[in-house]
Amino acid sequence: MPSITVINRSGEATRVDAQEGLSLMEVIRDNGFDELLALCGGCCSCATCHVFVDPAYADRVEPISEDEGDLLESSDHRTAQSRLSCQVTVTPALDGLTVTIAPED
Ligand code: FES
Repeated sequence: MPSITVINRSGEATRVDAQEGLSLMEVIRDNGFDELLALCGGCCSCATCHVFVDPAYADRVEPISEDEGDLLESSDHRTAQSRLSCQVTVTPALDGLTVTIAPED
């Protein structure tokens, strides 16, 4: 099972197991990071699952869709590493990934 490191808003890093086929949002939420609100439940309509993905893994995650890009535009904290974690599927290629929960908008 891939292992990923989640950095919370306090800067604390926690290593968690990530089941393949789940979204990064589900993995983060299911591991008790309640600061990731994920209010829409993964429907790509709320942007409260905003994270920063390690740039070294940028080519291992699916590209940003138009809808995701539009939602990220609404964030004051968007960077080149920004993703909506509900739109990133866990695959074996993500083993070792570090993902940082973005500041709240
Ligand atoms: S959970 Fe709402 S956009 Fe990801």
